[in-house]
Amino acid sequence: MRVVVVGQGYVGLTIAVDAAANGCTVIGFDLNSELVANLNAGKSHIEGISNSHLSQFIANQSYTATSDPSLLDGSEVIVIAVPTPLDGDRNPDLSYVHSAADLIAHHVKSSALIVNESTSYPGTLRKEIAARITGVEHLYASSPERVDPGNTQWGTKNTPRLIGGLTPAAVAKAKEFYGSFCDEIIEVSSPEVAEAAKIFENTFRQVNIALVNEFAQIADALGISGREVISAAATKPYGFMEFKPGAGVGGHCIPVDPSYLAHVANEVGVPATFIKRANEVNLAMPAYVVQRVIAGSGGSIAGKSVVVVGVSYKANVADTRETPAAAVIDLLRENGATVTWHDDLVGSWRGEATAPLKGDVAVLVTRHDGLDLAALQACGYVFDCTGTIAGVEGV
Ligand SMILES: NC(=O)c1ccc[n+]([C@@H]2O[C@H](COP(=O)([O-])OP(=O)(O)OC[C@H]3O[C@@H](n4cnc5c(N)ncnc54)[C@H](O)[C@@H]3O)[C@@H](O)[C@H]2O)c1
Repeated sequence: MRVVVVGQGYVGLTIAVDAAANGCTVIGFDLNSELVANLNAGKSHIEGISNSHLSQFIANQSYTATSDPSLLDGSEVIVIAVPTPLDGDRNPDLSYVHSAADLIAHHVKSSALIVNESTSYPGTLRKEIAARITGVEHLYASSPERVDPGNTQWGTKNTPRLIGGLTPAAVAKAKEFYGSFCDEIIEVSSPEVAEAAKIFENTFRQVNIALVNEFAQIADALGISGREVISAAATKPYGFMEFKPGAGVGGHCIPVDPSYLAHVANEVGVPATFIKRANEVNLAMPAYVVQRVIAGSGGSIAGKSVVVVGVSYKANVADTRETPAAAVIDLLRENGATVTWHDDLVGSWRGEATAPLKGDVAVLVTRHDGLDLAALQACGYVFDCTGTIAGVEGV
């Protein structure tokens, strides 16, 4: 099967490599020509895909990256995996999805199955993709990606895959494609159900994280450990699911996807009150962290050196999108501290480079494997947002 994957980021490259490993001939299309050159040179930008793994598929020609849109034509399957961020007003920005659909409309003259894996609100496949591609009869399906970067237990193969098609023929073709590298396919009755399921999953996480973030503040004010309470509650064998507090939420999904649901809810006249409140609580966590750090440092951090440790949004990945570490650093600086950050995985970010792990104060936002615990604990005051260091204050 010849397959094109539009967008070679976290999701697109992962799918491209999985399909190549299972006998497909894959073209990885991306507008970023520097990324394409790196990929063709065997340089992966994703933790879960090693350079040697990628090079193997390039060498046997089962995978090629390109920025040439003429290569979009002539495939049985075209997968769209492009960014779906929020605009400045926190509304859905579908410009990348539109640009991918427009490229397909211009360049693809032979009929194909077009699958959207990008996360978006229900109706995107039908109204924002299929409706823009005229002149050729394609098959259309939605199969939202559920990948959790850095998760070694659950990957593309063993995470059940949702498929909703515009027609039975689209569903059948999508099942054939994904069935070649996914263990379990779950067919739902429409693309809208598949699209909504994905954003509801992430809304569930966002709301529950906000709940434990708020609870952590209540528990601290009561003089008890929120984490100990959550662990105790989690001993109940039914009816409870454990979520952990932290410095906020980050990444391309949890802080973003619920706002896609809120957007369509607003359009149909239903106020998405949980999403609004969860956003407020999670976005306010960096301010709460900084307030606690100031209190724990004797009432002021003015003039003190503070090192923020771990600036990516989650452990063992280098992704800094929407990371709460950004607001933590900015607020520490606003309060007069001299702030550096330390993260070996990230290296450079916001025009600054990772600094040595030392300071009057250390704020652990994200804990990667291999953290230099001795260096962290040598800092005068340590505040732990990860709940992984016994005996120190934190969230
Ligand atoms: N990263 C995750 O953990 C994750 C998990 C599940 C779902 N998703 C969803 O998958 C989608 C993609 O996310 P990602 O993390 O892979 O994004 P990403 O930013 O890592 O990669 C997207 C790539 O698409 C390219 N691109 C943009 N417009 C293009 C176009 N018109 N044609 C070709 N290439 C184009 C960009 O250059 C970039 O390389 C989003 O909707 C996201 O919400 C992401």
